[in-house]
Amino acid sequence: MTDQKHNLSFDDWDEVNFPRPEENDFDRVVERAVSRRGFLGSVLAFGSGAAVMGTGLLKGTTALAEGHGMAKSRFPFTPIDIATDHEVHVPEGYTAKVLVRWGDPLFSDAEGYDVNAGGGAVAGSDRVFGENTDGMELFSFDGHEIIAVNSEYTNNDENLPAEQEGTPANADDVLKLQNLQGVTVMEVAPGDDGYAVVVDSPFNRRITHNTPMTIAGPAAGHDLMKTEADPTGTTSLGTMNNCGSGRTPWGTYLTCEENFNGYFGSIDADAARPDGYDRYGIGADGWGYDYHKHDARFDYSQNPNEPHRVGWIVEIDPTDPESTPIKHTGLGRIKHENAACAVAPDGRIVVYMGDDERGEYMYKFVSNGTWAPGASTEGLLDDGTLYAAKFNDDGTGEWLALTPESTGMASLAEVLIFARMGASAVGATTMDRPEWIAVNPHAVEAYCCLTNNKNRGADGKNAGGDATPANGPNPRETNNFGQIVRWRPSEDDHAADSFEWDLYVMAGNPEVYPNNAYGGSDNVTPGNMFNSPDGMAFDSNGLLWIQTDGDYSNEGEFEGHGNNQMLVGDPVTGEIARFLTGPNGSEVTGVCWSADRRTMFVGIQHPGGSWPTGEGLPRSAVIQVTRDDGALIG
Ligand code: FEO
Ligand code: CA
Ligand code: CA
Repeated sequence: MTDQKHNLSFDDWDEVNFPRPEENDFDRVVERAVSRRGFLGSVLAFGSGAAVMGTGLLKGTTALAEGHGMAKSRFPFTPIDIATDHEVHVPEGYTAKVLVRWGDPLFSDAEGYDVNAGGGAVAGSDRVFGENTDGMELFSFDGHEIIAVNSEYTNNDENLPAEQEGTPANADDVLKLQNLQGVTVMEVAPGDDGYAVVVDSPFNRRITHNTPMTIAGPAAGHDLMKTEADPTGTTSLGTMNNCGSGRTPWGTYLTCEENFNGYFGSIDADAARPDGYDRYGIGADGWGYDYHKHDARFDYSQNPNEPHRVGWIVEIDPTDPESTPIKHTGLGRIKHENAACAVAPDGRIVVYMGDDERGEYMYKFVSNGTWAPGASTEGLLDDGTLYAAKFNDDGTGEWLALTPESTGMASLAEVLIFARMGASAVGATTMDRPEWIAVNPHAVEAYCCLTNNKNRGADGKNAGGDATPANGPNPRETNNFGQIVRWRPSEDDHAADSFEWDLYVMAGNPEVYPNNAYGGSDNVTPGNMFNSPDGMAFDSNGLLWIQTDGDYSNEGEFEGHGNNQMLVGDPVTGEIARFLTGPNGSEVTGVCWSADRRTMFVGIQHPGGSWPTGEGLPRSAVIQVTRDDGALIG
């Protein structure tokens, strides 16, 4: 994903515009790198499949693997080769076809929407499937199957073809972009040719950058949340840069506001920039959306608190199109990737969350109240404690509570609005860009994709906050490949405040780097190489589906990685196999399953070429994958 004007990734943009202080403790960095050689060496020497770093977990994992007979793969398919073309590929015996593309109508009154003209006029742009599909979940309700799915951002030059470089020229242009993002809720149903969207279903709904929201939790009503349009600080408009997803045990959708900063700007370049703008990357120019020039809500010289009202987890009831989405401030304001829920043994709700920026943190929320099927869930996500993760090099870790006392901040509301600063204050561990987190349904453990951190070793500075020396779960200096960290909470309780961790996989290139950590862990081979793990979800069998958003040049140290892809990992044996490759240029992101688990839905974001139609503009789309024998697929 890139900003609209400069072809920089979101992360690169923040780094250029909001550099961290210089890391000048060079000696310390070198000392750590040297001392780590022995640590990494033991990982790479561990040759039985699973890459394990914490010695405390080494024996347990090995025993598990032996018990399950590692020689026998649990994958019912022959892994596929890399691809560099403009098609989707799946293993022999499987079929992939498109379910829905951006611009496809959700309602019959949007039938004339012309995608090859950037969609056409603003009218109808909030009646179609949104742009740049991302996280999604499927809900079964009263005999219906309903998918809630994010539209993360727009491709302005494609969506506004009449404007120079896609830069909005007026309020209608801005409204069209706002309409094409947010969330789509849509009913899908199986037919003779696979699943299709049920056009005009009463469940269909678009939630955009202008949909009314309720602000709930400890930060609701705080002065920093109040604006002229909302003097109560309890209602806002829109959810934006919706990246990954989550689902509550009670059947609601969680959408996650990630790089929200890029939508804000200032018509007065010298306007005051309140505390926190730097850390969250809010500047006068924004990312080229230019909302602030045509919609005063996004001009911080007029509405300096509006950016505080974005960057949250938002709960949506997919079964009630009249419901008002709820921003849960108790879960903190960060650049949210996704939200992975677990239920603690005593019924408390745990929500794991990653903040996707170099050197930011992993978080979890633990509710004070408990949940039981059928019981009221009101306020459950609004009353609890937010924690940030501290990883120790010895394979242990702690969750550090973020409170006024622990952070020195003035109030719980401020701790939550500026959660990044709170996590810095308590000494959480800087991470290599936490992307999706997934909770294993068959073991008390969770996984987080740490997608990459290509600039740590290059210049020693990062956007935003703290220095980011290499550390236990982020052991490589210039980390172009990424890794997946896994943790097991103490006493098999996701609400516990300590854990043990290891690395499930370090991605790499064993052909380019046969003799060092950049070759990856032992479960990375020339046959399954990939870089930049990002999307991730467990299926009902306890297999881990891993999606990538990385370098697809297939050149240099990425040679042999091909296009972005989806792999499946066995958490017990460490085995990883390539299942799907996306069209060149695309990111594979978002996965969910039909109610009968015979269809898997997969998101293809920002494809290149003319995928999927073979002519005209490329169109992000959700595809459906089935087994030709009709068997279960997850
Ligand atoms: Fe939207 Fe961090 O991916
Ligand atoms: Ca992502
Ligand atoms: Ca990514």
